[in-house]
Amino acid sequence: MKDVYIFAIETSCDETSASIIKNGNIDVATVILSQIDIHKNYGGVVPEIASRNHVNAITIVFEECLKKANLTFDDIGAIAVTYGPGLNGALLVGIEAAKALSFATGKPLIKVNHMKGHIYANKFSGEFKFPLLSLVVSGGHTEIVYMDKEYSFKKIGSTLDDSVGEAYDKVARVVGVPYPGGPLMDKMARVGKHTYNLPAPKDDNTYDFSFSGIKSAVINLVHNEKQRKNEINKEDLAASFQETAVGILVKKTIRAIKEYNVKQLLVAGGVSANSYLREKLSKACKELGVELLMPALKYCTDNAAMIGAAAYYEFLNKNFTDFSFDPEPGLDL
Ligand code: KG4
Ligand code: ZN
Repeated sequence: MKDVYIFAIETSCDETSASIIKNGNIDVATVILSQIDIHKNYGGVVPEIASRNHVNAITIVFEECLKKANLTFDDIGAIAVTYGPGLNGALLVGIEAAKALSFATGKPLIKVNHMKGHIYANKFSGEFKFPLLSLVVSGGHTEIVYMDKEYSFKKIGSTLDDSVGEAYDKVARVVGVPYPGGPLMDKMARVGKHTYNLPAPKDDNTYDFSFSGIKSAVINLVHNEKQRKNEINKEDLAASFQETAVGILVKKTIRAIKEYNVKQLLVAGGVSANSYLREKLSKACKELGVELLMPALKYCTDNAAMIGAAAYYEFLNKNFTDFSFDPEPGLDL
């Protein structure tokens, strides 16, 4: 088969990104423009501001990506875009740009589920070996997904309340760490000790998660200590939270690996950048004799490269779309 170049677009949250991906796993060019510095001032992503900044950035990001790849739209086989889950207005900017590009160039259009994109970010790390499990941990999701073949997803567990990324960000906020708190909490935890006694998160025989209890426990602890005029050791609190939260993720994932007897474990989503989670899963997979694929750090958080990787399988299935689709903010796997 002739080489397939996909031009992919991602605007579901606060990153404006475009990528050109060859044959589903070669990153020819990726441009990511993050709005983190803008949203930092508000302690989190402000949807309206995100949409406006996507509008301002998108054509510049597209041009930069084509320039970086040294390609034109004549070389492109299809245009792919994230259509959910994510922020409605933010998704809309990418979708309208994708429709306009497809109309102008005559190239087929592919709509991609952002979470499938996160899982397929692992294509840049190695080949998938089925059956496999993917631990999906992002700002909006915490899921264990079973795959017995390419591009087939069966969710076996998910969070009943907050996602793990959300818990990281909220705990970070209460200890005064700027948005997005996850990466900094990770760094602080590495120098702290697990000294704070936090309640163990939901640990039953399902593969579901709950992080609201531990999140509330940290928030209450910080408020109580403040009232008593006691100093909080932020690094120790970060370490205590991280060990508890990552502990339950790893414990349930190990049990799922054994029950489903899989060949491989993938990790996906923003929290897959977490150093402690990566370390713990590496150790566990080694002991279990299961291969572990993790995205390179640049592919953990939102990017269009992963959308191009997933879109390749939609392309092979000839799963093209017309222009009559809208953002789906609550889209499931
Ligand atoms: O996948 P992502 O970029 O956006 C969503 O699709 O949600 O994930 C963002 C989330 C944020 O909650 C951020 O704090 C978290 O990933 N995150 C981390 C780390 N890096 C990013 N959480 C813990 N440790 C990290 N190193
Ligand atoms: Zn994401």
